[in-house]
Amino acid sequence: MGNRIPDEIVEQIQKSADIVEVIGEYVQLRKQGRNYFGLCPFHGENTPSFSVSGEKQIFHCFGCGAGGNVFSFLRQMEGYSFTEAVFHLADKYQIDLPDHATAVSADNANDSEEKKMMEAHELLKKFYHHLLVNTKEGQAALDYLLKRGFKMEEIEHFEIGYALDSWDFIAKFLKRRGFEVELMERAGLIISRENREGYFDRFRNRIIFPIHNHHGTTVAFSGRTFTGEHPKYMNSPETPIFHKSRLLYHFHQARLHIRKEERAVLFEGFADVMSAVKSGIKESIATMGTALTEEHAKVIRRNVEEIILCYDSDLAGYEATLKASNLLQKKGCKVKVAMIPDGLDPDDYIKKFGSEKFKQDVIGASVTVMTFKMHYFRKGKNLSDEGDRITYINDCLREISSLSGPLEQEIYVKQLANEFSISSDSLKEQLAVFEKQTAARSRQNSRQESKERRAYISRTPRKRTGLRPAYENAERILIAHMVHDRNVIRKVLDKIGFEFNIDQHRALATFLYGMYEEETEISIQHLYKRVEDEELSQLLTDILMLQINDELSETEFSDYVKKVLNYRKWSMIKEKEAERAEAERQKDFIRAATLAQEIVKLNRLLK
Ligand code: UTP
Ligand code: MN
Repeated sequence: MGNRIPDEIVEQIQKSADIVEVIGEYVQLRKQGRNYFGLCPFHGENTPSFSVSGEKQIFHCFGCGAGGNVFSFLRQMEGYSFTEAVFHLADKYQIDLPDHATAVSADNANDSEEKKMMEAHELLKKFYHHLLVNTKEGQAALDYLLKRGFKMEEIEHFEIGYALDSWDFIAKFLKRRGFEVELMERAGLIISRENREGYFDRFRNRIIFPIHNHHGTTVAFSGRTFTGEHPKYMNSPETPIFHKSRLLYHFHQARLHIRKEERAVLFEGFADVMSAVKSGIKESIATMGTALTEEHAKVIRRNVEEIILCYDSDLAGYEATLKASNLLQKKGCKVKVAMIPDGLDPDDYIKKFGSEKFKQDVIGASVTVMTFKMHYFRKGKNLSDEGDRITYINDCLREISSLSGPLEQEIYVKQLANEFSISSDSLKEQLAVFEKQTAARSRQNSRQESKERRAYISRTPRKRTGLRPAYENAERILIAHMVHDRNVIRKVLDKIGFEFNIDQHRALATFLYGMYEEETEISIQHLYKRVEDEELSQLLTDILMLQINDELSETEFSDYVKKVLNYRKWSMIKEKEAERAEAERQKDFIRAATLAQEIVKLNRLLK
C-alpha cells in the first residue's frame, strides 16, 4: 500500500512521539542505564529481555528478536498498517493531518469489516447512553441505577446506557444507517429470527454496560436486567472484535492508574468495578463473567507486578481466587487478596460500609495468598473439634511446604503454632514430610516443563547470538557507524562498495548509500521507513542496539574494512583450492598450476 501521508507529517509525528511513552502504555518499563527494560509483549517470558532506547527511538527484544521503531511496534502490537499507526500517533500527539490523508483513513476503515463492527458499537453506545440519561423511556433504568447508589458521574464515566423495550428498534436503526444486517448479526448486535424473515435486537429493556477493548473502542455490550429477567446479565457473544478470554473490563481507563499506583485490583463484576472506582480505586478491572485466563494474566503482568484479587465472598469466589492467584503467580505477579466479610460482594460491601472502610479495611488490608488460603481452609470446620483442627493444620502445612523461602515458611509456622499453642518444632517435623512430597511433585513438573521448553525451542527458529565470525561483526559495526555518521558512509562506499559478505548487510548498506547520494538527512527513522522488509528491519534494530564508540578511528576503520574484504578473498582462496584439487584429480596440471599462482597472489593480498 502506498503511503499517501506526506513525509513531513510522518516526520513531525516521529519527532513528537516518544517511543518510551508509547510502548509504556503496553509494557511496564524500568530504566536501566541508558535503556528501558520490560517483559516482551510478543513472547511469553518472566525475565525482561525487551529493551527500549529513548535515545535511538527503537525497541528490541533479545529473546524473540522483535524490534523496530514506534511504527513497527504499533504494527506488531496492534496489527496496524503503517498508515493506521501514523493515524494513531497523530491522534495521540494531536498533530493535524491534511484532509486528503483523513480520507485515506476512512477508506481503509471501510475496507475492514471489523472497523464497521466497531463503528456500529460506538454509535450504539452513544445512542444507548442518550436514551438512559435524556429520555423518559430510560427513566426507570436510570432510577434503578441511582437507587443502587451510582451517581451521574459514574454513569458518565462508564458510559452506561439503556436499550429500549423493543423487538427490533436497533435492527432497523442500524439498517437505516447503512450497516449490513448480516455483519451486524456477526457483531452480536442483532439476532436472526428462526422462522420468520428479519432480525431482532439482542439487548432489550436492559441497562447497557459498553465494553471497550484495551484501546477504548467499544466492541461489545453487557445488558443487565432491572426487571428481574433472566439471565441477569446478557452479553455479546464472541465476535471477531470481542474476545472474552483476552479482554478486561475497564482496562482502557484503568491502565494509567495501574501504572501510577503500581498495582491493579481485579474484580468479578462490572458493578464491583463501578463501585470501586466511585470509592477512588481507579485501577480497578474485571473479567467478563468468566474465569481469569492465561491471556488475561499476561496482559496484567505486562503492565504491572502487583495485583489485588477482590472477588465475591462465596465459595465460587474463593475457588476463583485460588485459581486466579496460581495463574498470576506463575506469570510472575505478586498477588494479594482483599477479603470481604462472608456472603458479600465488593459492591454490597461498599454500599453497606462506605468507600473509606472499603479502601482501608478491604483493599488496604489485603493479605498474602498464603494467609488467604489459611482462612479458606477454615471454612466449614469447627476448630474446637480435634479432627477438624488436625485437618486444618495439615492443610496449612501442606500449603506452607510449597513456599520457596525458609523465612516465609517460618512466619506461617509460627502463626500456626501460636494460634493452637503447639510447638513450632513438631509442626516443622510434619512440614518436612510434606516438603519431601512437594519436592517430588515439583521434580516431576519441572521434567515436564523442560520437555515443553525444549519443544518450544526447537519450534522457534534459532536466533543468531553470541559468537559471530569476525567479518560479520565488522560489517555490523561498520553499518552502525554509517547510520550515525555520513562520512563513514562515504568511506565505506569507497573502500567496500557492494562487497559486503552478507546479503542483508549489503542491502542495508545500499539503502545508506542511496540516502547519502540523495543527500537526505540520515536518521534511524528515515532508514526504517525505507527498509520495509520485516526481517531486514529486525536486523537493523539488532545492529542499532550495538554499543559502539561515538567516533570511528582510522585504525579501527581500516581494521574492519580488512576483515570484510579479506573474508571475500579468503573464501575465493578456498574456492580456488578446491578447484585446484579437482584439476589435479583430473590430471589437468596446467590448470592446476594457473590456479596455484592465483592462490599465491590472493594470499599475498591478504597480508
Ligand atoms: P454477579 O452475579 O456477581 O453480578 O456476576 P454482580 O457483578 O454482583 O452484579 P449486580 O451487583 O448484581 O448488578 C459477576 C459477573 O458475572 C457476569 C457479569 O460479568 C457480572 O458482572 N455475569 C453474571 C454474566 O455474564 N451473566 C450473568 O447472568 C450473571
Ligand atoms: Mn453485585
